Amino acid sequence: TEFVSVSELANMMDVNVNEVISTCMSLGLFVSINQRLDAETLTVVADEFGYKVEFVSADIQESIDDADEEDSEENLVPRSPIVTVMGHVDHGKTSLLDYIRSTNVIAGEAGGITQHIGAYHVTLDEGKDITFLDTPGHEAFTAMRARGAQVTDIAIIIVAADDNVMPQTVEAINHASAAGVPIVFAINKIDKPGANPERIKEELANMNYLVEEWGGKYQSHDISAKQGKGIEDLLEKVLLEAEMLELNANPKKRAAGTIIESSLDRGRGYVATVLVQSGTLKSGDIVLAGQYFGHIKAMFNERNQKIEEAGPAQPAIILGLDGAPQAGDNFHVMENERDARGIANKREQLAREQGLRSQKHITLDEIGRRI
Ligand code: GTP
Ligand code: MG
Repeated sequence: TEFVSVSELANMMDVNVNEVISTCMSLGLFVSINQRLDAETLTVVADEFGYKVEFVSADIQESIDDADEEDSEENLVPRSPIVTVMGHVDHGKTSLLDYIRSTNVIAGEAGGITQHIGAYHVTLDEGKDITFLDTPGHEAFTAMRARGAQVTDIAIIIVAADDNVMPQTVEAINHASAAGVPIVFAINKIDKPGANPERIKEELANMNYLVEEWGGKYQSHDISAKQGKGIEDLLEKVLLEAEMLELNANPKKRAAGTIIESSLDRGRGYVATVLVQSGTLKSGDIVLAGQYFGHIKAMFNERNQKIEEAGPAQPAIILGLDGAPQAGDNFHVMENERDARGIANKREQLAREQGLRSQKHITLDEIGRRI
């Protein structure tokens, strides 16, 4: 039997999924992110990271797996693309997302969406939907991005035309490429005096990312997030990319997806923004996320309206977890509370043991996350 996928294993050990893949490679195993590993492989790979694998009761794992096995053709329906905007500090990620959000809000709802939200769904003029992931604070984002491969269908890489391709731009490009996520470039701030979009394209070409205008395969568009210039065309290109991916999902099963952000709210308890990736999440469901679990007491959309369910590619804000899972953690709806509690406790124990062990290879990035 096969247990845990490569990305889930990375998640459990709190390491970059690419590290797991390259470790597998060094062991002569060529694995993909979503590939499930059998017990023996799991044990060997985890051992490379200094972990001992303990197999929790097979029932519990089956309860998670069950949900994955019902994806017959007839259950699959098209879903909206999940798009992340990535780029160097100050190159305009938030401005772009704000512009898109403000111009695609259903009339009368504008007041409800001023707060920051890690994920939101917009319906464009032609009735097509896109789910955007806004990147949370820098440290959390690094963690998310390391795991982002599982979440994002398409990456918009934004580069300010009055600046250069910067280290974080390169990092974002590398992450997206390593994950096999299609890239659309947005060359931003073209309204600024001194902006030189062609220079950015040249820099990209020097990195072997040749944009279409230059005869390459990468879609790119010059925009001004501030003035809203070129953004409609940029989104057209994103939708084109999405069409080619033929994205679909099964809404008729217990939901699974990713935690986008979570926090403790004084009045409401633990609040988590989640992105449903398969199945349908319903109010009252038992959710397991990282080391935490709970019944969903209430559920809201990104406009703070109460909702009863959220389907594939839809974000939701949920109340009822007994803690704040990490951005990038997977969540699963469980059949019963006993199983949810069992796994949550096991993970907590694992994390505690790992805490004792992690001193040996702590990275800057992790230090940042703990502050
Ligand atoms: P971080 O979240 O800090 O990484 O930054 P960001 O990428 O989200 O950039 P943000 O949208 O906050 O923009 C940074 C600054 O650039 C802000 O002062 C924006 O007003 C400005 N800016 C963003 N887009 C444009 C643009 O198209 N034109 C001009 N002139 N300014 C822009
Ligand atoms: Mg920002």
